[in-house]
Amino acid sequence: MTDEAPEGLWPGQYPDVFASLDPAQEVGLGDMDPERFRAAAHAVVDGMADYLAGVEERPVLPPIEPGSIRPLLPATAPDGPESLSTILADVDRLVVPNATHWQHPGFLAYFATTASAPGILGEMWTAMLGQNAMLWRTSPIGTELEQVVVGWLRDSLGLPPTFDGLLTDTASTSTLIALAAAREAAGLRAAADGLAARARGGRPVLYASAEAHSSVEKACMTLGLGRAAMRRIPVDEDYRMRVDLLEAAIAEDVARGEVPIAVVATIGTTSSTSVDPLLAIAEVAQRAGLWLHVDAAYAGAVALVPARRGPFAAWERADSIVVNPHKWLFTPLDASLLVSRRMDAVRTAFSLVPEYLRTLDRDRPVHDFTEYQPQLGRRMRALKLWIQLRYFGLAGMRRRIDAHCRLAEELAVKVDRDPDFERLAPATFSTVCLRWRPAVLAGREDEPEVRARLDAANERLMAAVNATGEVFLSHTRLHDRFAIRVAIGNLRTTARHVDRAWELLRREAGALEA
Ligand SMILES: Cc1ncc(COP(=O)(O)O)c(C=O)c1O
Repeated sequence: MTDEAPEGLWPGQYPDVFASLDPAQEVGLGDMDPERFRAAAHAVVDGMADYLAGVEERPVLPPIEPGSIRPLLPATAPDGPESLSTILADVDRLVVPNATHWQHPGFLAYFATTASAPGILGEMWTAMLGQNAMLWRTSPIGTELEQVVVGWLRDSLGLPPTFDGLLTDTASTSTLIALAAAREAAGLRAAADGLAARARGGRPVLYASAEAHSSVEKACMTLGLGRAAMRRIPVDEDYRMRVDLLEAAIAEDVARGEVPIAVVATIGTTSSTSVDPLLAIAEVAQRAGLWLHVDAAYAGAVALVPARRGPFAAWERADSIVVNPHKWLFTPLDASLLVSRRMDAVRTAFSLVPEYLRTLDRDRPVHDFTEYQPQLGRRMRALKLWIQLRYFGLAGMRRRIDAHCRLAEELAVKVDRDPDFERLAPATFSTVCLRWRPAVLAGREDEPEVRARLDAANERLMAAVNATGEVFLSHTRLHDRFAIRVAIGNLRTTARHVDRAWELLRREAGALEA
């Protein structure tokens, strides 16, 4: 359990004024005095800047065991007020050291979520303004800034103005919204009549590759389609959806009387960052009259770089697309961009306007974002994006994304040249999937005993590398082999960090071999 702030990294002290209760705390009414807030906010921002300056000196993963934090915290909420210095000291002592440091440049696991400094400034304003951008009138700026930022992102991703959209919390929600719209577009009238009305009709089904993200299946669960509605289409050797099998599956379902509604294609799958053959899928979807949703939650950021748009060819033929700014656009959690050419279908799926939400006193029509999502309330997510996009500029964003892709390309070359390692997937974007395969075992990988040994050895290798605290790598299975993923995408990651990850992989592999 880490309950000590590292020496020199963290002041752990706040001005004396915070040691006493403020008048609002003593009286028990009202909020913190604005002047006290000013002083406290300055101290907190100092702590944040110190954290960002020193994050690399922390272990990416806190060296703790599950269940070790709760016993350090009181089981019940305090009855009386506590001083700010006590509370903030506990943040330093208990919260920060026990966080997984997503801001660490050695964070190379999953797909990165960085909170850029300008994005953090946007989050501060967002929290303070407390905008609920559910209706235009509940946040004119939240609504219109979101329309502007959605347009900025759409244009810079190279998508035509026929796409419009909204910002949601996550790709999971964006995909759920898209599939709910697909269901309406297919004429199922689920929003009005529910699926029970179809009890005797065919089952609505949809298609995604075996490598598609679990959020697609979860959307099926949530939308009442059920996991059985999802047809997982097998992939080729490079983990791309087999279009011939997609076509066959649709034909089979139609022959059985099922009702195909959508295809989900992925640009940048979670395990290997593979790219489904979009053009061919778009043709199939069009012929079958199916909604095409493209999940580019991670890789979509690359479309910002015109020279790297190859994998996105034909994505403008999609009915809806999700790209997550909170993944590789360095935006603090949460921010997911959903764009669609058929926002009318999205609205059909989610619009419900009770009297108390109607805007009566404006002549012009209002755009109420709540009509396009399941929730009523919604955060003002556009502000942080607006601040951040202006701070870095599109050129700056492109340079950073391009630099990450180049780091991955360089690592891929190193892996390919090392006789004791092998790459398990094309490194199309900024993620390299690899495993340790000592040269003496080359050619014997398919022997069941060798397979099992390689899986176990790579699991131990990853654990050993992660235990150094210098980097954090994650894993997956590719063609039923344990694969280590080096996913580059943190704003602060440089060649030094990727080189170090590679050094550690080779060093720890050597130690395991010995
Ligand atoms: C391809 C893909 N789609 C969707 C998701 C889900 O993202 P979120 O956590 O924003 O729901 C992920 C998460 O990594 C992903 O890799």
